[in-house]
Amino acid sequence: MGSMDECINCSINSSSVSPMRGPKFLVITLLSVFLASVLLNEALCETEATIIHPTRSRSGGLLRKKTPAAAAAPSKASSISCDLFHGSWVYDESYPLYDSAGCPFIDPEFDCQKYGRPDQLYLKYRWQPTACALPRFDGGDFLRRWRGKKMMFVGDSISYNQWQSLLCMLHAALPDSNISVQKRDPLSTVTFLDYTVSIMYYRTPYLVDIVAESIGRVLDLDSISSGGIWLGADTLIFNTWHWWVHQGAASQGWDYIQDGGKIVKDMDRLEAFLQGLTTWAKWVDSSVDTNVTKVFYQGISPTHYQ
Ligand SMILES: *[C@@H]1O[C@H](CO)[C@@H](O)[C@H](O)[C@H]1NC(C)=O
Ligand SMILES: *[C@@H]1O[C@H](CO)[C@@H](O)[C@H](O)[C@H]1NC(C)=O
Repeated sequence: MGSMDECINCSINSSSVSPMRGPKFLVITLLSVFLASVLLNEALCETEATIIHPTRSRSGGLLRKKTPAAAAAPSKASSISCDLFHGSWVYDESYPLYDSAGCPFIDPEFDCQKYGRPDQLYLKYRWQPTACALPRFDGGDFLRRWRGKKMMFVGDSISYNQWQSLLCMLHAALPDSNISVQKRDPLSTVTFLDYTVSIMYYRTPYLVDIVAESIGRVLDLDSISSGGIWLGADTLIFNTWHWWVHQGAASQGWDYIQDGGKIVKDMDRLEAFLQGLTTWAKWVDSSVDTNVTKVFYQGISPTHYQ
């Protein structure tokens, strides 16, 4: 992966998402597509494990009942040649994979059930590729396969949602694991210590830099200075979109745009997005050894709240 064209082609068809609304639905389903692709393309490398100060795991995780074998997806991993991104959302009575009430990682504002959303149907969809069946997500299997590895979500709060959702799925599968949590801005890391698997989130709404200069905050369409930190991960999942169309300095988080040699107060936002994403794609091509690090681009998502 890595080339922008490829990634845009593999983004999820938004029309298949539209009938089911709500952040949690979005998070779980997008994540399951991503995870499926990860599981079917096991990373090739080994890295040094980082051990952070152990803390006791928090209890209260709710382990969902296992699906009866008949209802479960076929366990044999399907051919890697299957196009995982071509398919549809199907109803699955055995979903969701976790109960948000038992997850210590989900922020209240993303917990629709906690705040009284009356329906639950949106939790019960899984992605079904047209050409193959996906194995059901298995948190224990995931951690065993990923032993010693790091996965990093890089982007805006949609990435943050995905990070939390994956953590909830793993926690629900193994509620008693020893977990260390470091929540920082811009980099947060949760490590499943018994497997030395780190699931990380790096907050950068535009992927390209916002630089504090004397005139104010400048969105530099040509620079990615955080890239060195991202390279420490075995799998990188990028996302940027909705901030590009925010209007007004308070909302958008910058005062000027640096576009090549010139600094402008504003410009066509789709053009800016194209340039920022091109800078990102060039960074991936020039800096990421894709034999070692798998790169995904999450594609465009709607907002959290609808
Ligand atoms: C958590 O760590 C303790 C101390 O190292 C260990 O005895 C225990 O088995 C670990 N828990 C799990 C679920 O692996
Ligand atoms: C990646 O792997 C391929 C196939 O094994 C090899 O030909 C290529 O040189 C490798 N690239 C790098 C940058 O190591």
